[in-house]
Amino acid sequence: MAFLLSTEGKIATWEISLCLIGIVKVQTLKMTNTFKDEAMKLPLASLLIGALLGANAHAAGTQTGQTPPPSSSTCTGTYPSYFQDPAFTKTGMWDNQVIINQAYPGWKGPIFKLSDAYSAAKADQEMPWLKFNPFDKNLSEKDKNTQAWNYLWAVMQYIQAGNIDSGDINTDWDLCNNKVRAWYHIPYQTYDPMSGREFIHGLTREAPVTMAVKDQGDIKTTMWAVGFYNPQAAGSLAKVWTGAAAPVMPQANFAFNEGSVIGKLLFTTATPNNYPFLENVPVWQANISSSDFCECKNADGSACSFQQETEQCPRSVADVYLLQFDIAVRDSRSPVGWAYGTFVADGQFKAKEKNPWNRISPLGLMWGNDTPPANVGAAAFPQNPVSGLKDSAVFQEVVGRLNEKTNAGHLGCNGRLNGPADNALSSCLSCHQTASVPDSSNNTPAIMYQFASYQEPGSGQCMTTPSKLDLAIDQVYFKSFQCSESFNGPKNIVPLPQYAQGQTQWISTDFSLQLSISLTQWQEWQQDQENLKKNIKVRVFDGTLPSR
Ligand code: HEC
Repeated sequence: MAFLLSTEGKIATWEISLCLIGIVKVQTLKMTNTFKDEAMKLPLASLLIGALLGANAHAAGTQTGQTPPPSSSTCTGTYPSYFQDPAFTKTGMWDNQVIINQAYPGWKGPIFKLSDAYSAAKADQEMPWLKFNPFDKNLSEKDKNTQAWNYLWAVMQYIQAGNIDSGDINTDWDLCNNKVRAWYHIPYQTYDPMSGREFIHGLTREAPVTMAVKDQGDIKTTMWAVGFYNPQAAGSLAKVWTGAAAPVMPQANFAFNEGSVIGKLLFTTATPNNYPFLENVPVWQANISSSDFCECKNADGSACSFQQETEQCPRSVADVYLLQFDIAVRDSRSPVGWAYGTFVADGQFKAKEKNPWNRISPLGLMWGNDTPPANVGAAAFPQNPVSGLKDSAVFQEVVGRLNEKTNAGHLGCNGRLNGPADNALSSCLSCHQTASVPDSSNNTPAIMYQFASYQEPGSGQCMTTPSKLDLAIDQVYFKSFQCSESFNGPKNIVPLPQYAQGQTQWISTDFSLQLSISLTQWQEWQQDQENLKKNIKVRVFDGTLPSR
């Protein structure tokens, strides 16, 4: 399978040597694609065999809108809405930068506002997904799939309610005034010039992806995404992002409330010419950097400052197409406490759906990593990924449809759930269970072992010919960690944190990588302010932003 995922410098986590001797400065690291060959070897054919589901399994429930409408806008302007938000210029956040992310005179499109009134969030009673229970171990394969399919659509309709009916896709997902229930964004994905939220729809840049398209060769693309939190989730975020100037850094494992729901739209710069299933899907204009992976470079190889990044990587308004829609639900019936699922663009097959946001199909739902036995690698377990995965439901007919003309139907490690935007050697939960509060050097665990700068050369997760070390890596990265549990493993695989308060284990952000990123960017801004007081003006991103 020719899905390659390139990484950018900031994907890398810290140098273990630097960590051990306590040096705070970590330069931007250049990563090589050591894992791309492995990504190509996945058993594509085995994924095509269909565990077919009737399309009429589609849940038809509609929202009743019983929750009282929020009394006023949830967008308070407490935090910057986007990178270079003019309302925050006086804070010095973007000093010396070229302005590349503000509405220009005459701009008539939407301007993004952050929905951030977390403390005012009132938990709502409606949880339509509770009618379905895909986690029941006694279900037949067919019943499990039907339950998961209905669960996914119940969650999707819950997330869409009040967000997709403005009559114009450009003004949909404006969270400030949802009449059905309040929705919120995570703050502070706004500091890093390379990935910072753009001003039109609040999208942030994910890892660049090289897509190999049949007869077209390799195409460089970027993914741009935005996530939404329901009132239960916002109630939890309010403990960290209280509305005060500084967040309350969690000192113990963080937990989202039961019933928390997170949705995330992912857009690609690829077009229907590349991927026919992108026909008829929502297209947004976004203020993005060039999709050929703009990377700031200094002649001497040193890391670029924020100022240089804005000089070398300008942005411009371009079209992006909806490719994927991720969901996450805190559901105590799941063995790990969360269910992670995804939908993919299916614009040709779903052309007749009236609302373009519904021209998508569920790809799957997962509630564990199907951990291999200690002597087998994750790439070889289960033996038959189509029938053997117990901790997920994957809809093979959707996978097959995406693969008809493209290679976009790929999943994760040995068929574990992952979307077309994701790295084929991981899975939703494999990445998300690493989510942690950054330590005092602004480090967090690597979301994939391959992204760790301390990696043992040649080794990695989901290897097809694993060594002893790789088996140990799979035991960590494909373990099924519990929600709100510290991510840990042997020290050469998961180095320990260095927290100012002395905690010896990683403090979990309960699978939320956005929460982890928001705290990392916040901490970075604080450290930069200290430097500015000492008249050190060059700002180089020292933290590590996990990026898929
Ligand atoms: C290679 C690692 C990786 C994989 C695989 C991955 N994600 Fe994520 N995900 C991330 C990162 C990093 C973020 C935060 C960046 C952002 O959203 O801006 C994120 C954010 C999210 C969010 C927003 C809330 C949060 O947790 O921060 C959801 C929901 C989500 N992902 C769901 C999924 C689902 C569902 C899958 C599988 C289909 C998946 N992810 C696969 C890395 C990954």
